[in-house]
Amino acid sequence: MSRGAIAVLSSENLLHNLVQIKLAAPSKSIIAMVKANAYGHGIRSTATRLDKHVDSLGVASIEEGMALRKAGVKSPIVLAEGIFEPDELLIAACNNFHVVFHDSTQLAWLKGLSLPLPLVSWLKVDSGLGRLGFSLCDVPYALSTLKECPYIKQPIGLMSHLSVADDEKHLLNQIQLSAFNQLANNWDGPKSLANSATIFTFPHGQYDVIRPGLLLYGVSPIKGKKASDFGLKPVMTLQTRLISVRRRETGSFIGYGATYKCAESTNIGIIAIGYGDGYLRSLPANTPVLVNGKRCHLVGRISMDMAAIDLSQCGDAKVGDPVVLWGEGLPIEELIEGSPLIAYELLTGVQSRVNFHWTMA
Ligand SMILES: Cc1ncc(COP(=O)(O)O)c(C=O)c1O
Repeated sequence: MSRGAIAVLSSENLLHNLVQIKLAAPSKSIIAMVKANAYGHGIRSTATRLDKHVDSLGVASIEEGMALRKAGVKSPIVLAEGIFEPDELLIAACNNFHVVFHDSTQLAWLKGLSLPLPLVSWLKVDSGLGRLGFSLCDVPYALSTLKECPYIKQPIGLMSHLSVADDEKHLLNQIQLSAFNQLANNWDGPKSLANSATIFTFPHGQYDVIRPGLLLYGVSPIKGKKASDFGLKPVMTLQTRLISVRRRETGSFIGYGATYKCAESTNIGIIAIGYGDGYLRSLPANTPVLVNGKRCHLVGRISMDMAAIDLSQCGDAKVGDPVVLWGEGLPIEELIEGSPLIAYELLTGVQSRVNFHWTMA
């Protein structure tokens, strides 16, 4: 019996989620965000499945973009953080990578530049997130620098990112939306503001091009809402197996640190997955799992390769039985309710020693 930790990935659910996004943002162009190994789902396998169905793909670096080109991905690829070195401009132009310019250092690299092909570009403005982007007052200079460069294709895109799109009532949203809108009104190129949460919380912020990430993977981007509220289905189901089932007597301690003591005689199962697989030690106490489809919960600390579960709700469980950690039947959002963890962190944290297996579309 192999160890059993496996991430089952549903092609069908990935494409289903894309349809739901298109329904929520009809006629908008889509940059499908596949950075960070497609949120832990596998950048090549995810991107090849999305390739013919989206307008472009979003990555964080040239390396991620090149991995997609080597895998045969044809769509334009947006470098969401732009280029990190001047030499990357040539690589970008030759590989149909669209470059986000967010800093004057990058603009300086355009001086004296010669490229064999024109470069599609986005100008990123910091409308209030306080991360990347030109400040509002620097936009005219940044735009004219891009316009004057003969190798930059016209028109240039305008991009920004909301800080608290998942909290509809937060005041900063209105400040950012209004700042972006002022620029957008006189902008002749494509405009892009919306990540997953924005698509639903502020439909008027969808502009021309949306940039969904989390929605694609079937997870709710908004606290207190479930993926099913948006018609989404989880792409990843993380599962493993029971490798031990033992009766533990009243007063027995379970796991490192002896943090859990059995209040009564209980069947305790050990599952083959731990923080070395990305099943984080910081998951809350009593985190739910599904054993043979029945809800049970964790007890004690998660260790590197294993975790313990209370099997009192699943009397007939035996070694070898499947255990779902999140995904189909157990939305990842439920695991992190009330905890500081975010779904992005869990998904991107799944380690390569877990077997990845895509179901057919
Ligand atoms: C610039 C940018 N656009 C879009 C996204 C996608 O965000 P989400 O997964 O919340 O849709 C991200 C994610 O970090 C991002 O950095």
